[in-house]
Amino acid sequence: MASKGKLARISGPVVVAKGLGDAKLYDVVKVGEEGLAGEIIKIVGDSCVVQVYEDTSGLCPGEPVVCTGEPLSVELGPGILKSIYDGIQRPLDKIREKSGIFIARGIEVPALDRKAKWEFKAAKKKGDKVEVGDIIGEVKETEVITHRILAPHSGKLASLSSGKYTVLDEIGEMEVSGKKVPLRLHTRWTVRKPRPCREKLPPVVPLSTGMRIIDTFSPIAKGGTACIPGPFGSGKTVTQQSLAKWSDAEIVVYIGCGERGNEMTEVLNEFPKLIDPKSGKPLMERTVLIANTSNMPVAAREASVYTGITLAEYYRDMGYGVSLMADSTSRWAEALREISGRLEEMPGEEGYPAYLARKLAEFYERAGRVKTLGSDERYGSVSIIGAVSPPGGDISEPVSQNTLRVTKVFLALDASLAHRRHFPAIHWLNSYSLYTGTLDPWYEENLSADFNGMRNAAMALLQKEAELQEVVQLVGPDALPEKEQEVLVVARMLREDYLQQSAYHDVDAFSSMQKQYLMLRNIMRFHERATGAVELGIQLKNISSAKVREKIGRMKEIPESKMKELEGIYKEIDDEFDALASKR
Ligand SMILES: Nc1ncnc2c1ncn2[C@@H]1O[C@H](COP(=O)(O)OP(=O)(O)OP(=O)(O)O)[C@@H](O)[C@H]1O
Ligand SMILES: [Mg+2]
Repeated sequence: MASKGKLARISGPVVVAKGLGDAKLYDVVKVGEEGLAGEIIKIVGDSCVVQVYEDTSGLCPGEPVVCTGEPLSVELGPGILKSIYDGIQRPLDKIREKSGIFIARGIEVPALDRKAKWEFKAAKKKGDKVEVGDIIGEVKETEVITHRILAPHSGKLASLSSGKYTVLDEIGEMEVSGKKVPLRLHTRWTVRKPRPCREKLPPVVPLSTGMRIIDTFSPIAKGGTACIPGPFGSGKTVTQQSLAKWSDAEIVVYIGCGERGNEMTEVLNEFPKLIDPKSGKPLMERTVLIANTSNMPVAAREASVYTGITLAEYYRDMGYGVSLMADSTSRWAEALREISGRLEEMPGEEGYPAYLARKLAEFYERAGRVKTLGSDERYGSVSIIGAVSPPGGDISEPVSQNTLRVTKVFLALDASLAHRRHFPAIHWLNSYSLYTGTLDPWYEENLSADFNGMRNAAMALLQKEAELQEVVQLVGPDALPEKEQEVLVVARMLREDYLQQSAYHDVDAFSSMQKQYLMLRNIMRFHERATGAVELGIQLKNISSAKVREKIGRMKEIPESKMKELEGIYKEIDDEFDALASKR
């Protein structure tokens, strides 16, 4: 029920309203004459503390506050994809049409276009019994994605017809415990409540990302969680965008949370231009962007995160694999800190509220590979990849630490690598994935029986290199026995010819798992043969000047269509080493 009260106090994005009667925690309120959107975050006696999602300057005590009696919700239906929303799911272009480039306050714009007509094809008919979550029909939402309309309740279909509808039109009716309930193309869902599923499944399928450092050494599982902490300019945004573009998810939800306006503008300009490598159509055909820049009110950052994850769950429930990127979760945490400060709560570490850990955990827990609701067998997933921006790149700070505790993959961006222009600047020794073990069987069955062993051997070489580097710095490489110098040669090949990968190169930006396997196999074959050659007494300089090394260096540029060429290098390595051995 809507109830009306008055503004008592204003403190930045936090205001206090009195006289709201039976208002509940997390109810949405309209604040002031302009009706700014806000949410009740604390109730003490007659006072409701409200975080306001819009700029509160100019508000005065005494102005009206109206409680809508409803929690913060999103509209779910066709038209979400291709949209660019603000934190509370208002389409940015529509706001701009109404108010010009400066976002005016108190504007109400529906998330889904009220006029657009969608061609609905019914999959069930009058009299059919359906369960909540069953597909009752579909709409072609974009050129590449079919939007499945799910039954909002269990019951019997009283009517349902195909046709052209707006999201508000009735498409049929359901009988739910004796009552008739209208069916529409859209539903609503409260953002703070995870959407239910039948069952959460173990993360046993990798999310192929096309980035070799990730897929090979720190794999992300479908339905898994990953964090990318990194100092200023180390590649968080570029990595997130590569993942959006290349990871084998059907739907992308990209949340730009509190990043600098110009960086977000880049995303807003860039994204619509990106071409989907899978379909050749714009990537936006299967993407929704949520943009919330640093100059927008801080409270909306929190809303943007919840809005994003709820949209992701909605597409998961249709049976899609969804990748959600949040750039950067640190800005959300900073918003929590600011609001908490205004509430005069007892500060925890570095001024962040004590519930920071819980909030982060709750967010990442909404990831998962699931068996969806509904009587048919349908599987979907939401994978979450969150960027973290620790001040000064020092991950001992609370946001990084609390994120690390709940995410299973840690992709450590490293300032010195970025400085040396080793991209992606994800450090192989500091990064890890807790999925490696559970994913091993998948790689074994679907890629190759020797892949996991080869990956471990390659990582061992990189670790050995780090140890040897310490010695080299003291006494120089020539003091090492040839066997160890050979390790340095191969580790360098691994770093330069395998791990370095340009996000901007046509061919190199993406490597399929098959390509990664063949590339790694060649380098490790080189290692095997080189070790053998050193044992035979062949001089290292003859080994490191092997002609085939140049080919290995150019493997990344070999397109997916020429896998045979990549495979052929294996034999060339053998041939060259055989020749070296016979010359002795
Ligand atoms: N994979 C990559 N391939 C090529 N260049 C890269 C790659 N990753 C990062 N870079 C380079 O590093 C620059 C900075 O990257 P990016 O903007 O992603 O950093 P960031 O961590 O998001 O920074 P900020 O802290 O400012 O948000 C890019 O403009 C690009 O030149
Ligand atoms: Mg960035």
